[in-house]
Amino acid sequence: MNYNELYNQSIHFPSEFWEKQANEIEWYSKPSTILSQDDNGYPLWFKDGKLNACYLALDKHIQDGFGDQTAIIYDSPVTQTIKKYTFNEVKTEVAKLAGGMLSLGLKKGDTAVIYMPMIPQAAFAMLACARIGVTHSVVFGGFAPHELAIRIDDCKPRLIITASSGIEVDRLIAYKPLVDEAIELAQHKPKKVIVLNRKLGARIPFKKYDVDYEAIVYGSEETPCVPVEATHPLYVLYTSGTTGKPKGIVRDTGGHATALKFSMQYIYGIKEDEVFWAASDIGWAVGHSYTIYGPLFNRNTSIIFEGKPVKTPDASTFWRIISEHKVNVMFTAPTAIRAIKKEDPNGEFIKQYDLSSLRTQFLAGERCDVATLEWYQKHISIPVIDHWWQTESGWPMIANMMGVEFLPIKPGSSGKPVTGYDIRIFNENGQELAPTEEGYVVIKLPLPPGMMLDIWNDHERFQKGYLDKFPGYYFSGDGGFKDEEGYVFITGRIDDVINVAGHRLSTAEMEEIVSSHDAVAECAVIGINDELKGQIPLALVVIKSGETIENFQTQYEIVQLVRDKIGAVASLRDVVVVQRLPKTRSGKILRKLIRSIADGIEFQIPSTIDDESIIEEIKEDFQKQSIGIYKNSPI
Ligand code: COA
Ligand code: AMP
Repeated sequence: MNYNELYNQSIHFPSEFWEKQANEIEWYSKPSTILSQDDNGYPLWFKDGKLNACYLALDKHIQDGFGDQTAIIYDSPVTQTIKKYTFNEVKTEVAKLAGGMLSLGLKKGDTAVIYMPMIPQAAFAMLACARIGVTHSVVFGGFAPHELAIRIDDCKPRLIITASSGIEVDRLIAYKPLVDEAIELAQHKPKKVIVLNRKLGARIPFKKYDVDYEAIVYGSEETPCVPVEATHPLYVLYTSGTTGKPKGIVRDTGGHATALKFSMQYIYGIKEDEVFWAASDIGWAVGHSYTIYGPLFNRNTSIIFEGKPVKTPDASTFWRIISEHKVNVMFTAPTAIRAIKKEDPNGEFIKQYDLSSLRTQFLAGERCDVATLEWYQKHISIPVIDHWWQTESGWPMIANMMGVEFLPIKPGSSGKPVTGYDIRIFNENGQELAPTEEGYVVIKLPLPPGMMLDIWNDHERFQKGYLDKFPGYYFSGDGGFKDEEGYVFITGRIDDVINVAGHRLSTAEMEEIVSSHDAVAECAVIGINDELKGQIPLALVVIKSGETIENFQTQYEIVQLVRDKIGAVASLRDVVVVQRLPKTRSGKILRKLIRSIADGIEFQIPSTIDDESIIEEIKEDFQKQSIGIYKNSPI
């Protein structure tokens, strides 16, 4: 079947289409209801089916006789370690860890937070939770204790699983003290903390709630998988929204497993037994779906990479790993390729490695700029596939479905809608726009399996944020257009979410933190273009009258404040002190105008602006501080 036929089938006969895909995975009890709705009309998939995600990732392959196949390759340039684990080995450790968790009192329906660096034990922890029906919530290690505490208070874990430390390029990050600080800050107190001592030199202050990871694994019996309902929450993953409070995206078990298994073969075009590498931290959706669950469901060997595309030790790392482990399909963010390109513009490192195993390079997490795509293709002549998705979807919504039919690549477009996703472009009034007209990217219900089930503890926010704006459609938060041939071009977020080096962050949250500084009267945080990271935040602050503190001191303190509260990953380095912010006559801050000035984009002065002369003031401020397009211009 070609792409068009398969796609049309999925849209016109969703139940039949996905029932067939659900038959590709194993169930303890097969669903008899394929597609139903919750009380609010939102789709539920495979409601009465029972399965277990850990079983599908591990036990099934062992039962099928593949226990000795390598499941995980841990490649860590920062600790100079390469270690391979077979499905048998992973299953033994996971089943024992799960047994240990049961002995600590955990049971199906509980939640556990995982806050770990990119090490195999992070995957083991996720799978151990899945094994016993505990909903995991992985928190990205780059987030500071304040952020961790917010998540602890929201998902109320009975247990936290962490490690003593991680390594960021050349510095040790002591994870455990960050967990202790977060527990102090949080209202909710987890009962236990399992700590993996990595023996990397960091001292771990012992707390009463600590349990040693190795002791619990080696002192426990293996425990079997617990069958769970298809709609049982496998995990909660927090992502940034338009308010200061992150939202916990809830992922089901049955729809998710069906969609991931399908995507491995139909989108990524990878066969069982092959090597798949998604170079993403497990703290992000990509890490969940395509470093852990997807490849393991599909019996691929997956690589857990503890390092960066550059500086660990240099821009050759990706190519070394592809050649050494014979990677067949790879997935990373465009920003990683830009980082490599910056260090090795002529691709000298690429020439030193045999990359013949690599069939396809997938990119996502942010728009893939044409220059990055062309650079890659110039140096490695394989298809480079941009594809679009979100934490909410958990798998791609627009792509070139490489396992179905390779369609011509159009630079700047992330391809055509994936099977199951009826993607439309709407104007503000919910009318569908013609080709090439830019508007809101929305998806007609029912959404296919794998899409988010809800927002943890906040169904109202889910309903309001995604479903109420255009009834009958999911609102993605992105803008874009289609061309005459149905290719979709995503042009960027239309809300306060920004994408910094593939990390999704909220400027609203940063604004809350910046304005909490004593000297700040008011502020605006926006995302501006950045050659390497795609976007970076920029803060404009107005200082309270009468403040005697020097501007440079305030700027320094604000940068530190954001690092302390969100984490270094926020990458806020530019704080501009201004006399006033551009506003409408009704007092609304004109953030888009500020962004256009910094990015050097032509703009129309809004008719509602309070005072036009502020535009020149801001340009001068940006010039003085080398912001955005004024980076290298003389003052
Ligand atoms: N723990 C602690 N700190 C972390 C961290 C972690 N897990 N991850 C990042 N940080 C820190 C970094 O050390 C850095 O600190 P610094 O400001 O003191 O230098 C800061 O957060 C910003 O990190 P990062 O965004 O990674 O920037 P970078 O300059 O170190 O590296 C890239 C830039 C492009 C190489 C890197 O961001 C990258 O590889 N991005 C790909 C992202 C990705 O795969 N996203 C998944 C979606 S597909
Ligand atoms: P996250 O939830 O962190 O995966 O971020 C999702 C957001 O990243 C989307 O809403 C888009 O704004 C952006 N994004 C992801 N992939 C792409 C892509 N291929 N092209 C353009 N934007 C993308």
